[in-house]
Amino acid sequence: MTSGSSAINQQAIAAEFPFLSEREGKPLAYLDSAATAQKPTVVVDALSDHLLLHNANVHRGVYPLAAESDALFEGARERIAARFGRLPQETVFTKNATEAINLVAKSWGPANVEAGDLIVTTVMEHHANIVPWQMLRDSSGCELGWVEVDSDGQLDMASLDALLERKPKLVAVTHVSNVLGTINPIVEIAERVHAAGALLLVDGCQAVAQLDVREAVAVADFYVFTGHKVYGPTGIGVLLARRELLAAMPPFLGGGDMILTVNRERAVWNELPYKFEAGTPPFAEATALAAAFDWVDSVGLDAIREHEHALVSETLAAFEQLPWIKVFGPQDADSRGALVTFEVDGVHPHDVAEILGREGVCVRAGHHCAGPLMESLGIGASTRASFAVHNSSEDVERLVAALHEVQRIFAD
Ligand SMILES: Cc1ncc(COP(=O)(O)O)c(C=O)c1O
Repeated sequence: MTSGSSAINQQAIAAEFPFLSEREGKPLAYLDSAATAQKPTVVVDALSDHLLLHNANVHRGVYPLAAESDALFEGARERIAARFGRLPQETVFTKNATEAINLVAKSWGPANVEAGDLIVTTVMEHHANIVPWQMLRDSSGCELGWVEVDSDGQLDMASLDALLERKPKLVAVTHVSNVLGTINPIVEIAERVHAAGALLLVDGCQAVAQLDVREAVAVADFYVFTGHKVYGPTGIGVLLARRELLAAMPPFLGGGDMILTVNRERAVWNELPYKFEAGTPPFAEATALAAAFDWVDSVGLDAIREHEHALVSETLAAFEQLPWIKVFGPQDADSRGALVTFEVDGVHPHDVAEILGREGVCVRAGHHCAGPLMESLGIGASTRASFAVHNSSEDVERLVAALHEVQRIFAD
């Protein structure tokens, strides 16, 4: 198997992903990791070990099995917190990134935002980083401002600056666009946002599996991501935030585990981070997520980035030769994460994806949960190929060959 870069031992990686070898017939080119990543066996093993060997509810039992489950869960939190340079108290487990953003919008929001205030988001956001702010706008009477995207798929910093002059309360921005692939300059954005006295929330969903995001986490007031896009399990997301901010925020959901005491009159909130983790938390998933990060780090983020960068470059170079393909977003691989969104002239993206699927190439077609961006691009839908560490140059070749098949079918 050829690889996009020599830094990756493709055979060792392939051994971690059984779906690559266990398909009958055509090999599968899974180019949909931006939607959800495939799971290496070490992650599935960690999940099943917790469930088969150490399963007991956390923070409740006093018997040894419960202590094992607790230790695994809190150990996972400590590893994840340390990896991102935050404290365990600053590392809140949620259901996914969507819930993490809703937590901020519905807890920090009403306590800090009132009619006439401004919240800023960007045109390139996923709906998860738009709708919670629209809901806050509707409940509080605040205004929602939009940072525009320029013709190269970059954030228009002049439109950010213009909005910052109006002293917004919070700016919510994605680290890497799930459609354009654009890697946003979070450190630069944080400087401007903080100089204007606003807080910064960063959606790291598309960044964490391929970039060292520690600097961005350090400068962001809130940094969120979802487990299933970083080779981890579904059912878990993470909110990383400064302790003082979390301490001042009211709970998001009420129930077990988020309280110290409850009587008929009232409840006393638990300490951080448990105040924000109502009900049974995703404890086995947390163990598996920590295993996913251990695995990513054992492969090496630099090597992963280099490998995926090479695959994106190969894809962009191949597409440049095909005048019937239009690529959205930055035209060079350096400014993008591991994805390429495009349209095939005259063919609906769903038809493209359907034919590619028949050829064993898995891509995403649709609006990519980015309605405002689709509107500003003047399209209803597009097709997205996204890469992970298990992909190879052969997958790019399969993609290009399958696109020729699309072209052949629609030319008839
Ligand atoms: C940039 C971005 N933000 C947020 C999300 C939402 O993730 P989840 O559905 O796991 O909450 C996604 C998922 O596609 C995404 O790509």
